[in-house]
Amino acid sequence: MALTAVKGFNDILPDESGRWQYIEETARQVFELNGFGEIRVPIMEKTELFCRSIGDATDIVEKEMYTFTDKGENSVTLRPEGTAGVMRAFIEHKLYAQDPIAKLYYMGPMFRYERPQKGRYRQFHQIGAEITGVNDPLADAQVLNMLTTFFHEIGLTEPTLQINSLGCPECRPAYRATLRSFLEERMGQLCEDCKRRFATNPLRTLDCKVPGCISATAGAPSVLEHLCSGCDDHFSSVRRYLDLSSTTYSINSRMVRGLDYYTRTTFEMVTGLLGSQSAVAAGGRYDGLISQLGGPTIPGIGFAMGLERIALLLGTKDFASQPDLFIATMGEGERDIAFCLMDGLIKSGVRVEMDYEGKSLKSQMRRADKLKARYSVVIGGNELLSGSASFKRMSDGLLTETVLTVAGIKALVGI
Ligand code: HAM
Repeated sequence: MALTAVKGFNDILPDESGRWQYIEETARQVFELNGFGEIRVPIMEKTELFCRSIGDATDIVEKEMYTFTDKGENSVTLRPEGTAGVMRAFIEHKLYAQDPIAKLYYMGPMFRYERPQKGRYRQFHQIGAEITGVNDPLADAQVLNMLTTFFHEIGLTEPTLQINSLGCPECRPAYRATLRSFLEERMGQLCEDCKRRFATNPLRTLDCKVPGCISATAGAPSVLEHLCSGCDDHFSSVRRYLDLSSTTYSINSRMVRGLDYYTRTTFEMVTGLLGSQSAVAAGGRYDGLISQLGGPTIPGIGFAMGLERIALLLGTKDFASQPDLFIATMGEGERDIAFCLMDGLIKSGVRVEMDYEGKSLKSQMRRADKLKARYSVVIGGNELLSGSASFKRMSDGLLTETVLTVAGIKALVGI
C-alpha cells in the first residue's frame, strides 16, 4: 500500500509555498515595524503547561491535544497553540528582568485533533504576536491596529474585526452566575455538550452552533452589561483608541473564546467566505496567565492568525516567482556559454532557467512559456560569434539586441 500523509496533516507544495512566503514576509514586515522581534519555541511542551494555561475544561485540552508519554515516562504534548509556550519561555528565561515589556512574534505548526474540513486541519500553522507588561488599553489598540494593517497590506478587505470584553476575575463570576440562572430555565433546549458545559464553562453556550442552543441563548444577558468599572473603562478606552485611529470594528458581546486564559479585551477577525471556519485570526488579553504559570504578575495581550485560512482567502492569485530569463540553445556547442551565463546571472541576483536535457528548440520555448519567464533568448552559432543576441520580452514579443554579458543582461531585465 502506498504511504500517504497522516489525516489532517498537509504538504505545502512549491506552487502554493509562494503564497505562504508572501503571507509570512508581510507579517514580519508589519510586526517588525511595530517593534516586535521573533521568538522560536519548541513544538512540544510538557502537557501540564497547556492544562494550566488553556484550561482543563476547554475542548482543546479535553479532546484535541496530541498527548503521549515519551520514553522517559513524561507526558508531553504537541503544542495546540503558541501563547502558552511563548509565555513559558518568557518566564523561564526571565525576559521580564531586562524589560517587562516584551513584544514577541512567532510562526509555525500547531496541532489539534479536530475533524478535518476546509480551513480546519490537525496540523495547521499560526502566525502570532504577543505584548507583555502593558496594562494600558493603548496596547490593545496597537495590537488590533497591527492586525488590521496586516490584512490591509496583504490585500484582503474581507475579514472584519469583532471585539468584546470578557471581564476579569472580579466581575466574571457574577456574570457567570447570572448566565447560569438564565440557562437553568432553558436546560431542556440545550445540546448535550452545552448541558455538560453548564457546570464547567457556561459561557461557551453563547458560542454553540447547534440551532436549539442558538435560540435558547437568544436573549441571554450580555457580558458587557456586567463588567466591573475597571473593565468597563478599559473597554471604552480601547474603543476610543480604535476610533482615534479610524480602525473599523463591531462589538460582538456573544464572542467567547475557546481558551480559558482571557481577561478583558477579546477579538476575532471573521470572514463569511470559509463556511463554518469563520475566524481567520483571534486573540485577547491574558492578564493572569503569566502569574498562573509561575511568573511575576505581568499582563499580556496578543493574537494568532491561521495561515491556511489566510492562504485560502488569498485565492488562486499566482505568488510563485517566475524566472527573469530563459536561455534556450540551438545545439550542444552553446550549452557551455549558456551555463556560464546562467551561473553568473544567478550569482548577481537574476533568476535564470535553461534547458538541461538538449531538447528541441520548440520544446525549450514551450518550457519558457510554462515557467512564465519574463524574457527568453536563443543562443546559436551566430550569437556566439557576434557576442550579442536578441532577447524577447515574453509579455509582448518585443525584441531587444543585447550583449551576452552579465552586466548587459542585468540592465535589460531591470535587476
Ligand atoms: P485560537 O482562536 O484557538 O487562538 O486560534 C487562532 C487562529 O488559529 C484561529 O482564528 C484560526 O484562524 C487558526 N486555527 C485554529 N485552529 C485551527 C485548525 N484546526 N485549522 C486551521 N486553523 C486553525 C489561539 O490559538 C490563541 N493562542 C491566540 C492568542 C494569542 N491569544 C492571545 N495571544
